[in-house]
Amino acid sequence: MIGNLNHVAIVVPNLDAGTAVYRDTLGAKVSAPMDIPEHGVTTVFVELPNTKIELLHPLGEKSPIAKFLENNPNGGVHHVCYEVKDIQAAAKKMVDEGARVLGDIKIGAHKKPVLFLHPKDFCGTLVELEQA
Ligand code: CO
Repeated sequence: MIGNLNHVAIVVPNLDAGTAVYRDTLGAKVSAPMDIPEHGVTTVFVELPNTKIELLHPLGEKSPIAKFLENNPNGGVHHVCYEVKDIQAAAKKMVDEGARVLGDIKIGAHKKPVLFLHPKDFCGTLVELEQA
């Protein structure tokens, strides 16, 4: 069912420092920081030839990644995002397979429908599915 790896999201305690690591140390192409208030994050997209890395930093008081950063003060991998053709069909399959879908299908950072799956059902990793 899943297709390409769309992105790996990494929470960073300092967005400028994280951006510098990817741009300068690793020599990758990085975007300018973008505030996404509806998701409570500021993000920098790192473009790789075959996928993306998204550096995430909390934005606002109620950021959903604030707790993650508290627990992982140096930052860390937050989720992986796989592409699917049909998000509704994917959601149904996940429920049928007994996996826990977190919340409802939402419009993600790329303006496409996404849903999140519980890490306990996916090898300890938060999984995002995005309709490509
Ligand atoms: Co994501």
